[in-house]
Amino acid sequence: MKVWRCTVCGWLHEGESPPDHCPRCGAPAEKFELVEPSEYAGLMEEDGVAAAAEVKEMAAEDKKRIEAALFSISYGLYIVGSVKDGRPNAQVCNTVFQITSAPARIALGINKSNLTNEYIKSSGVLSVCTLGRDGHDMVRKFGFKSGREINKFENVKYSPGKMGVPVLDDCISYLECRVVPDLTVDAGTHTLFVAEVLEGAARSKDEPMTYAYYRETRSRPAGQKPKG
Ligand SMILES: Cc1cc2nc3c(=O)[nH]c(=O)nc-3n(C[C@H](O)[C@H](O)[C@H](O)COP(=O)(O)O)c2cc1C
Repeated sequence: MKVWRCTVCGWLHEGESPPDHCPRCGAPAEKFELVEPSEYAGLMEEDGVAAAAEVKEMAAEDKKRIEAALFSISYGLYIVGSVKDGRPNAQVCNTVFQITSAPARIALGINKSNLTNEYIKSSGVLSVCTLGRDGHDMVRKFGFKSGREINKFENVKYSPGKMGVPVLDDCISYLECRVVPDLTVDAGTHTLFVAEVLEGAARSKDEPMTYAYYRETRSRPAGQKPKG
């Protein structure tokens, strides 16, 4: 059996061919790459990359059942940004949550191969912009290509915030944060950053985009409202 990896979010899929769409981020089949058997063995040896081993060992129906349970975990959708040598970069991220109130700290999971991860590690600062329910274009812009390939901020209105991190004009709220290195951990494919919130504001009372809402409405043409 072959193992395919989503190049957008790192999801691993076992099968003869890649899935039509990534069940996690919605990326199309062409965004999947075949994981070479040698690399696959390497992945299994790495600390914390339990997913690869689980894909191999778990029966297909067990995997499906567990995936269904994982999909019932609710998330929002955010644009997480950072800066390096004066250049901003940002990516879509669903794995953001507040972890403590005093001090206000958030945790977020960022794939180690993403340019945003490199920028956050280098500068130690990051922004989190909360998307509204009309944020599909932002997901398309920031969620499927790396800042290594394109300048994602072309034609996007933003300001550098008080801490120099990119804050989108088009968001319903934003946070500016400093990473707490002692609490940040290597979580295998991802870094789990813990960051202290030092600045931020809510800009509108519009409803935030949830991951579930995005999945339900992601294929609609821009501007078209979902049914119901
Ligand atoms: C709906 C959606 C949710 C995503 N959630 C995450 C996430 O939680 N963590 C992550 O590292 N990448 C996530 N991604 C993938 C990144 O946004 C994507 O790989 C991006 O192109 C990385 O860009 P960069 O290399 O410029 O940093 C998500 C993508 C989509 C479309």
